[in-house]
Amino acid sequence: CRFVVLISGQGTNLREIVRSCREHNVPAEFVRVISNQADAPGLQWAREQGIETAVLSHRDFASREAFDAALAELIQESMPEYVILAGFMRILTEGFVRQFESRMVNIHPSLLPAFTGLHSHARAIESGVGWHGCTVHFVTAELDHGPIIAQAALEIEPQDTPDSLARRVQLLEHRLYPQVIEWLARGRVSLDQHNKVHVRGVE
Ligand code: GRF
Repeated sequence: CRFVVLISGQGTNLREIVRSCREHNVPAEFVRVISNQADAPGLQWAREQGIETAVLSHRDFASREAFDAALAELIQESMPEYVILAGFMRILTEGFVRQFESRMVNIHPSLLPAFTGLHSHARAIESGVGWHGCTVHFVTAELDHGPIIAQAALEIEPQDTPDSLARRVQLLEHRLYPQVIEWLARGRVSLDQHNKVHVRGVE
């Protein structure tokens, strides 16, 4: 199964996904890592692993639509079955998302549908909820609203700060995302006509 991964920063999720797939002999091929930031540490790591990389800076484009069109072309060139968003900090246009409908996944650091968007850890603490975590979902045009594939949760401790919570949720992300990518690679994930996700062997 061919994957293209989009990142903007550290790429710790990318690293865990690649590492875990290799360790478990998952039939996953990471054909290209694309970043909108040339200095993303995750890009350097990918190069060291022998994974092809590409940089597409949004600053070189006059509009969001033009950037997304170039990005779509770059992805299509690699002919992936799935596109993995792993800390890709750009809002994608509806046209772009539609091109990769049911073929693009994202990880968000909250228990969706709660706390879409930025600063989810601080907002979870402020709101007083007892539980928090992360969600892997298919990407739809509405930000952080697509069909949910899997979630991992933890209990918020009284002493938690946004930073401590971010660190603890990140550990969950590093287990959850590789698991979902393995399911995708093994062809175990499907969407029914109501846009509900089914994972063969899990339900
Ligand atoms: C993660 O917290 C993820 O939930 C969010 O962006 C961050 C990416 O981190 N979408 P990394 O680049 O994988 O380290």
